[in-house]
Amino acid sequence: MEFPSAEPYRIKMVEPIRRTSRSEREFAIAEAKYNLFNIKSEDVYIDLLTDSGTGAMSSAQWAEMMLGDESYAGASSYYKLKESVRQIMGFEHFLPTHQGRAAENVLFSTLLGPGAEGSGKVVPGNAHFDTTKGHIEFRKARALDCTTAEALDPGSDFPFKGNVDLGKLEAALSEGPRDRVPLCILTVTCNTSGGQPVSMANIRAVAELCRAHGVPLFLDAARFAENAYFIKTREAGYADRSIREIAREMFGFADGCTMSSKKDGLVNIGGLLCFREEELLRRAMPFNIMYEGFNTYGGQAGRDLGALSVGLREATELDYLEARVSQVARFGAKLEGYGVPVLRPYGGHAIFVDAGRFLPRVPREEFVAQTLCVEAYIEGGVRAVEIGAILADRDPETRENRFPPLELMRLALPRRTYTNDHMDYAAAVIASVLERRDRITRGYRILREAPIMRHFTVELEPAER
Ligand code: F0G
Repeated sequence: MEFPSAEPYRIKMVEPIRRTSRSEREFAIAEAKYNLFNIKSEDVYIDLLTDSGTGAMSSAQWAEMMLGDESYAGASSYYKLKESVRQIMGFEHFLPTHQGRAAENVLFSTLLGPGAEGSGKVVPGNAHFDTTKGHIEFRKARALDCTTAEALDPGSDFPFKGNVDLGKLEAALSEGPRDRVPLCILTVTCNTSGGQPVSMANIRAVAELCRAHGVPLFLDAARFAENAYFIKTREAGYADRSIREIAREMFGFADGCTMSSKKDGLVNIGGLLCFREEELLRRAMPFNIMYEGFNTYGGQAGRDLGALSVGLREATELDYLEARVSQVARFGAKLEGYGVPVLRPYGGHAIFVDAGRFLPRVPREEFVAQTLCVEAYIEGGVRAVEIGAILADRDPETRENRFPPLELMRLALPRRTYTNDHMDYAAAVIASVLERRDRITRGYRILREAPIMRHFTVELEPAER
């Protein structure tokens, strides 16, 4: 008899969460101007807004917190982290940063910064994350999305929808003067295309193309361990390789990486910027010192560095990853069982609901995915995030709303945090909205919005008022 797999940990400390009444939630969401970022966490029952910094640390990580060395320079916690980075990621050189976008800021200041910025520069990759794109565009360069066409077909079960279309990349690398492409950035797994992995074969091919054109390749490694797990379970030739061997091979193709350690670092705050060559590290150091802090702490307390040194090891254990990815898949299957339209294959960190198919009667001008997120909150206190027209923002030139091909609701699962009972509850809440979807015909209109990154602070009102 084959036993079911189960979590490789038990619970030692609990944090109360509270169920609220429907009328309390209706009041809270109206007060929040129908923006889920404005809701107090105490008014949320199951919080699936993000998997970033929301996970539970282990007893070993908490023990490391107590051992944190808070020396300004050369702290022992820094050297513990340096050893983990070297062993797990294979990089000899790194700078700590306060989170992932800070590592992007330092990297792009180094490679696209004063003297190197300017229009015409292109940074190709697979569907860059918003902050990555923000840092590139802020420096007047262009983030070129070279994602494979399979990723755009929600019905396709292609196992590596994070892959780069090599033809598109080659064209981008061959066009224009040699310094037009200062670097290429590959996101593993690719959050923007649904938490989808990149295959080892694709990483290798991208690296070969980059090398042939003399362009450095960086990984956005926020979810590198989940990517390694998908390579092990989906790609021929990797079934018998350990997660750490696979991770080392992935990083071995890159000249460096940025990492939000709030994901696969299993910590609540922190980031990393890693380099293969000392020369690049030296160029990046002044920016790190200016923006983040001295090179051995970079915006983190010594105890945070210590917790991350342990988190990187725990996140690359097979038992942990099996429990993690199978919890997400179990949740996806549960939703599909209720008839909820979800993107396939299931992502490593989240399930993406196709809001356009879920709420076909809501006009796209009234923000379909946002409407679904609001309904899920009102229905049962489940908080999700909109990946639709509000996030897509306005065209910087025409100032018209941009309507993306898919209106999605992302349900992201914090690591080691909720039980399967919690996830069953969340699935039932979404299913309950599905039952009354015919009566949901109107969405929201914008009352107030910021000129960029409007989704965090936007204020809305019901369109039918
Ligand atoms: N890269 C990827 C792929 C990400 O998903 C994120 C953050 C970042 C970079 C930026 O890292 O938040 O530490 O500054 N993603 C979070 C999310 C916010 O909810 O998907 P950060």
